[in-house]
Amino acid sequence: MNRRAIFMTLCAAFIPYSVYVYTQGTEASHIRAMSEEARYGQQLFQEFNCIACHQFYGLGGYMGPDLTNVVSSRGSAYARAFLMSGTQRMPNFNLNESELDAMVAYLEFVDTTGRYPADDYQINWYGTVVQSDE
Ligand code: HEC
Repeated sequence: MNRRAIFMTLCAAFIPYSVYVYTQGTEASHIRAMSEEARYGQQLFQEFNCIACHQFYGLGGYMGPDLTNVVSSRGSAYARAFLMSGTQRMPNFNLNESELDAMVAYLEFVDTTGRYPADDYQINWYGTVVQSDE
């Protein structure tokens, strides 16, 4: 085969591959829509700059622990208790009841988006990665 034939073969293979990958998308059907309350919690999370000390999916500040799966590993009540009282190293933000509910709702939402560190995932032959739904 000459170079031109190789090049044309690759071009021809690239088209169906692209169509396949782009129409498959990255499935995220297990992620439900964010509730109004969780959205408010997200706003508070940004306002109080929690990410300065905490991470989601390993990204953020490193003074406090990663919060991606704090709800499923420790429970909503545990997260709420931390927010209510603070600790020696984490400030008490004096959140009121509805702010606490919203913040916990947001942490619950983030928990449903995936696992960190990724412990259970599958690499598809066409190059995308999916985490298995729990
Ligand atoms: C100044 C840094 C700092 C900020 C800002 C901060 N935290 Fe923390 N947080 C910590 C530290 C440090 C810990 C670990 C507990 C300890 O060592 O006292 C912690 C623990 C937690 C925990 C328990 C996690 C676990 O796995 O035990 C939750 C939940 C939490 N923080 C939520 C938040 C939220 C939500 C905000 C924003 C309102 C926030 N934190 C802001 C430092 C911070």
